Amino acid sequence: MKMVNCALVWHLLALLATVRAHSEKRAAILARRMVNLQSTLHFNSLRSNNVPVSMAEYYVASDSCPDVEGLFDNGDPVLLLSKMSTSYKNWHENGTVTMTIEKPTLHYDGIMGKPRGVFFGKLKKLELSSEDNKRLAAHFLVRHPDARHWLPGSDESHVHDTVWFEFVVESVYFIGGFGDRAFIGNISGDVYHQDLRDGESYSCNHMSSHDYTFPVEYKQDISALPDESFFGRFFQAFKNIVMNY
Ligand SMILES: *[C@@H]1O[C@H](CO)[C@@H](O)[C@H](O)[C@H]1NC(C)=O
Ligand SMILES: *[C@@H]1O[C@H](CO)[C@@H](O)[C@H](O)[C@H]1NC(C)=O
Repeated sequence: MKMVNCALVWHLLALLATVRAHSEKRAAILARRMVNLQSTLHFNSLRSNNVPVSMAEYYVASDSCPDVEGLFDNGDPVLLLSKMSTSYKNWHENGTVTMTIEKPTLHYDGIMGKPRGVFFGKLKKLELSSEDNKRLAAHFLVRHPDARHWLPGSDESHVHDTVWFEFVVESVYFIGGFGDRAFIGNISGDVYHQDLRDGESYSCNHMSSHDYTFPVEYKQDISALPDESFFGRFFQAFKNIVMNY
């Protein structure tokens, strides 16, 4: 009896591992879409007294800036930080920072059921040619028209101390939401960065300001995914329970 149980457990674990690899990729697709559709994040940093603080910052996904040399369509968020900001100062003091991004809720329909993630990695200062600086600024302004007042090197700029950064994602702790489709766990940097546009894409590359007012993908992101097998869904549910979510 004990032997049978043991075999069953091993079998379950092996299945779980397979399901997990599969769902990590699906989670990565969801995470990339979320990062593409969103444009503000919470910048989590440490004060000098080690107290964590979180500030809202603007970003644009590198996937939305395909014509900028030095960016790689890999889902890394690109931020514009003022050297006077708390986020910049804390990062300058202590490079330990993370980003939190979540899918906004249109109405009160509960953030607990929505995708969200903590992004681990390193902030890298971008050195861009003046042409690329302009291209990046154009993409950034589609999402953040008000940022025209503090673009780096802009004549119009009232603030002359802003810097472009790429947040190089090393891993993501992703929570897909509740239910049978939700993935909760780590996505590795490699899986997150790979080209995930097979068939159904998270195509936001050619997003104009018009598209942004009402992103078509907004409602499709989860339903557009292929259905998982019964076992996939069963183990997903099982994992959610095991992980006490
Ligand atoms: C950042 O702060 C943490 C916590 O105090 C510390 O362990 C780490 O060494 C600091 N890193 C740097 C680069 O100062
Ligand atoms: C995710 O990775 C972190 C750091 O490697 C680890 O501490 C954590 O337990 C992992 N979480 C899950 C759910 O695998």
